[in-house]
Amino acid sequence: MSETLAINGGQPVRTRPFPSEGKVGKEELKELVDVIDSGAMNRWGGTKVVAFEEEFADIHGAEWSVASTSGTAAIHVAMGMVNPAPGQEIITGPITDMGSIVPILYQGAIPTFAECDAETFNMDPADIEAKITEKTAAIMAIHLFGNPCDMDPIMEIARAHNLPVIEDCSQAHLSEYKGRLVGTIGDIGCFSLQQSKHITCGDGGITITNDEEFGLRGKLFMDKGWHRALYGPRKYEVFGPNYRMNELSGAVALAQTRKLRDIIARRRANGDLLRELVADVPNVRAQKLIEGCKHTYWQFGMRVEEGAPFTADEFAEALKAEGISCGAHYIGRPIFLCHDALRNQRLFGNSHHPFDHPNARPGIKYDDDTTPRTQEVLDRLVQPHCPTQFMSEEDVRDIGAAIRKVAEGLGQ
Ligand SMILES: Cc1ncc(COP(=O)(O)O)c(C=O)c1O
Repeated sequence: MSETLAINGGQPVRTRPFPSEGKVGKEELKELVDVIDSGAMNRWGGTKVVAFEEEFADIHGAEWSVASTSGTAAIHVAMGMVNPAPGQEIITGPITDMGSIVPILYQGAIPTFAECDAETFNMDPADIEAKITEKTAAIMAIHLFGNPCDMDPIMEIARAHNLPVIEDCSQAHLSEYKGRLVGTIGDIGCFSLQQSKHITCGDGGITITNDEEFGLRGKLFMDKGWHRALYGPRKYEVFGPNYRMNELSGAVALAQTRKLRDIIARRRANGDLLRELVADVPNVRAQKLIEGCKHTYWQFGMRVEEGAPFTADEFAEALKAEGISCGAHYIGRPIFLCHDALRNQRLFGNSHHPFDHPNARPGIKYDDDTTPRTQEVLDRLVQPHCPTQFMSEEDVRDIGAAIRKVAEGLGQ
């Protein structure tokens, strides 16, 4: 007979709070003071944003990098690099943040969605291939929670169809796929530095590439298309918004980038420990990691197994009672059903742009039948408190013990 669950009046596994997340400190402050002392707060005239771009690119072995104001902006920069015509399609994943989707639509392209795999929660390469049409302009892989997508088959499919691959690494800084960093396997990598991400400057983003044409276009796209090296009468070379990162954000992003490897090493060690601790727990299973890959645990995703004697919501409630926070279902529904205007294809005034563009494939719609397997993945998904870089081994062991207690206790 196992211990009484806290939800049934038993003793919770954890009553102490977890260590708080002091993500920034004196290193960030020092860089910020430089900016204030210099008075140069715009990237043109300052040094921090450029240094951030260079150091982030160096870590990734990338030739080109474009800092911007958010992960959403970083993906919009990627769209500016690929430059789809209105009505062309970008195949992406239905389990993501709206920040992956908005830039596609603002660029006049149409997102189409590949199913997610029940075990990795990432896009299923076979379904990516099935979703390719004569309108497809690119594939955008999303490394969910820090777990790398299966990039070999994705790249094989993309190359066979001559399509560029964008990687949305917003949740996956320094995740590795068979010895390669995510963001460097496809043609373009996009990262978010929003507050909750592995490194942060409050809000920020960066896009990397080794393709010169993409690199040049991205640099211009981020800055209204204005080639600043060319003085004289204004000549804009690319049509784009202003996504310039400012020097204050750049200062923090630079200091954070210098800590990135350490942060990831600690976070990965703690995440891998939790993965080990729960490996034989009945009725729940950690997000599957493909052989030879390294996770970075932005979230610790788990699946409530088919036939389990409890639901995802029951598991999450019982775990919370044990003193361990736990989410259920992540975004709840595939992203295209999370927004009425997107589901109804009424994004710009009362038009149906871009869905009714003459170049668009007729009949694209978003409903329950678009990715039914993905809805099942979300229905079974739980997110116990993710081990952070700030936690001790004992903290992680408490999370593991609580997961085991709940999965065994609810199973009786
Ligand atoms: C997978 C993914 N893509 C894109 C974004 C957008 O990033 P941001 O919030 O920095 O715009 C996020 C943010 O949560 C994300 O998780």
